[in-house]
This record gives sequence, structure tokens and C-alpha cells, in this order.
Amino acid sequence: MRRIPVIQLGVGNVGQSLIEQVAASRVRHADLFDLRLDHVALVDSDGAIVNPKGFSDDSLSNIAQAKAGGSQLNELSNGHVQCDPAAIVDVAGADEAIVIDVTASQETIPALLESLGRGYRVVTANKLPLTESYALFQTLTSSRQLRFETTVGAGLPVLSTLQSLVDVDDRVQRIQGSLSGTLGFICSQLDAGKRFSEAVREAEHRGYTEPDPREDLAGSDVARKALIMARMLDNPAEFEDVEVQSLYPREMDDLTINEFLAEVDALDEEYDELANEARASGKRLRYISEVVDGHCRVCLAAVDPDNRLAHLQGSDSMVVFETGHYRDNPLVISGPGAGPTVTAAGVLRDIVGLAL
Ligand SMILES: NC(=O)c1ccc[n+]([C@@H]2O[C@H](COP(=O)([O-])OP(=O)(O)OC[C@H]3O[C@@H](n4cnc5c(N)ncnc54)[C@H](OP(=O)(O)O)[C@@H]3O)[C@@H](O)[C@H]2O)c1
Repeated sequence: MRRIPVIQLGVGNVGQSLIEQVAASRVRHADLFDLRLDHVALVDSDGAIVNPKGFSDDSLSNIAQAKAGGSQLNELSNGHVQCDPAAIVDVAGADEAIVIDVTASQETIPALLESLGRGYRVVTANKLPLTESYALFQTLTSSRQLRFETTVGAGLPVLSTLQSLVDVDDRVQRIQGSLSGTLGFICSQLDAGKRFSEAVREAEHRGYTEPDPREDLAGSDVARKALIMARMLDNPAEFEDVEVQSLYPREMDDLTINEFLAEVDALDEEYDELANEARASGKRLRYISEVVDGHCRVCLAAVDPDNRLAHLQGSDSMVVFETGHYRDNPLVISGPGAGPTVTAAGVLRDIVGLAL
């Protein structure tokens, strides 16, 4: 049996689901690939827990449950306060390992670099390391020892499809997508005649938004996704080069979350007008991301009814690739583009892909 030590940075929603899925697929991995993925270290924002011999499935399940219940790893027996991910990569030391970044932190960057430098392979669901400088993106991705499928469209095979188009030199002329479940939901609510403030509050109430909904409404998360795709097309773009439309005025940045939710009605008139105009001409409002000739733009747009993005419902995501080979009839990928279970499944696919 080939044993691959796994070092997991982040034990939040995605990280907990990943732990379950690794255990659940253990027999299949053994039967099909003679492979055992063996967690040797887990790290959260306050500490870590390390076992170079590998945690049993029972221990992993207890760790995931403790995290789901709000504990920190350093509070568990054998947990410790060392939480510098790069040092943990060192402590866990092994000849061959896979390091997984399911945090939402830039602090993991040294650990990712250290891991790749050691010849480890890396899987990340975390967009932040890939959307720092273009030079860092190249350093992280050029060896192809780092996979990052779930950074765009969660478990949907968006980036593996894009990579396969690039690899066969099918010229990608345009990528258009709707890549935020939260903004997709809000746009669908506007289509259905709801006011902007109602849609935002409903999305917040259902837990679709970040704790501060402005993080979604600012468009920067979608901008990072567009930037990753542009960079995969060898465009040396920086985050500042992405044209981003925020769905609220920057003056509202100074408000607390509750103040923002109380005052968001002030934006209703503007969005009523946009929604009415779109409806009158049979169009649909969508928060789109577009990559054309290396230029990235993310914005609210009224799309024609024959545009595939017009058919999106609720919080689903969609990406439309127009390429040399898929010109008149573009290549379309759509489905649930968020959620811990599908994201963890996508991370596991990346891990298995690297392990084989
Ligand atoms: N959820 C989704 O649907 C989805 C979809 C696609 C991609 N993603 C990406 O997947 C990543 C994880 O998402 P999530 O929903 O699981 O987030 P989450 O629930 O907030 O979990 C984040 C985890 O990272 C840990 N962490 C934060 N800073 C750290 C640091 N410096 N070192 C080590 N660990 C650190 C946190 O520690 P504590 O437990 O101590 O807070 C937590 O365990 C994010 O980058 C997200 O953008 C998520």
C-alpha cells in the first residue's frame, strides 16, 4: 500500500467535510489505487495537532467534531499552540507528502512555498495565494505540483477544463461566467421582482453571504476567480488590473454590519430602475465575470435572454468558454458552484490526481 502523508491547513467547513470524505473513500482508494491518504498534521488559526504516524479515522472524526463544535486544535489532547504552517510542514516532515490549504488566509503562502521547495505536492481551495503577484502565481503553479480546481466554481471542473483547452492550444477567446452563488441568488431575487435590500437580507438570513455581506457585494471574490483564469491563459495580470464593480458605494464601508443591513434600502431605487429596464427588454440581471484578451472585468450586466447566463437559477454557477474549437456552440459548465461538500469533493479529486 502506498502511504501518502497529508498535512491539512484549515479545519473549517471545507476542511471538516474533507476529513469525512477521505475516511469514507479509504476502502475505494485502497482497492482501486493501492493508496492510503494519511493525515499527519492539521492546523487551524491558533494551533495544530501532529502525529507523524498518521491519525486513525476515529481520531480524525473526533477532531472534525471538536472543530465543528467550536474548539481550537490547541485545546485538544496532544494539540499545541504552534500554528506557523511553514513550521508544521517541517515538523510533520516526510519524504513524500501532500499539503492542503483549505484556509482563507495569506499566511499559508510560506508553507506552500516551503512544501513545493521540498518536492511535496499541494492542493489549495484558497484563492488568496494565487491572486497575490503574478510572479508568485507563476512560482506556485509552474511545476504543476499545485492544483487549485476549487478556487473557481468549487467542485465544478472549470479549471481542469480550462487547463485542457490550453494544453491542446485551443485558443480561448472569451470566458464569461456567473461565479458567485451569493450574487447569483441576489440577481435571481431581483429577476423575481424582489427589491435589492430584501434580496441582500434574505441572502444574509439564509447564510449565503459572508458574515459581512459587503465582502460578497464588493465583487472582489469574483474578481479573484477571473484573475486566476486570466493568469492560466498566461496573462501577467495583477489584481489591480481587474475592473471590478461594487454593488454598494464605498462610503458604506465605514458602517457596522448591522448599520449596513439597516441602510441598504437606500440602494433600492437604483436597483429597481435597473431591474425594471432589464425586465422591459426581456433581459436578466447577472453579476458576470469576463476574461477577454487578458482583460478581466466583473460587473452587474443585463444579459440577453439567449445568453446562457440568463437561464441560471438561484445560487448555481456557470462558465461559458468560447474558443477556436467551441466558437458557435460554446463549452458550458454549470451546477452548484459553492458549498463545503462539493468543494471538499473537488479538493479530494485534486489530491487523488496528484497522488496517482
Ligand atoms: N465554503 C465554500 O463553499 C467554498 C467554495 C470554494 C472555495 N472555498 C475556499 O475554501 C477555503 C475554506 O473555506 P471554508 O468555508 O472552509 O472556510 P472556514 O470555515 O472559514 O475555515 C477556514 C479554516 O482556516 C483556518 N485558518 C485561518 N487562518 C489560518 C492560518 N493562518 N493558518 C492555519 N489555518 C488557518 C481557520 O481556523 P479557525 O478554525 O481557527 O478559525 C479555519 O479552520 C476558503 O479559502 C474558501 O474561499 C470555499
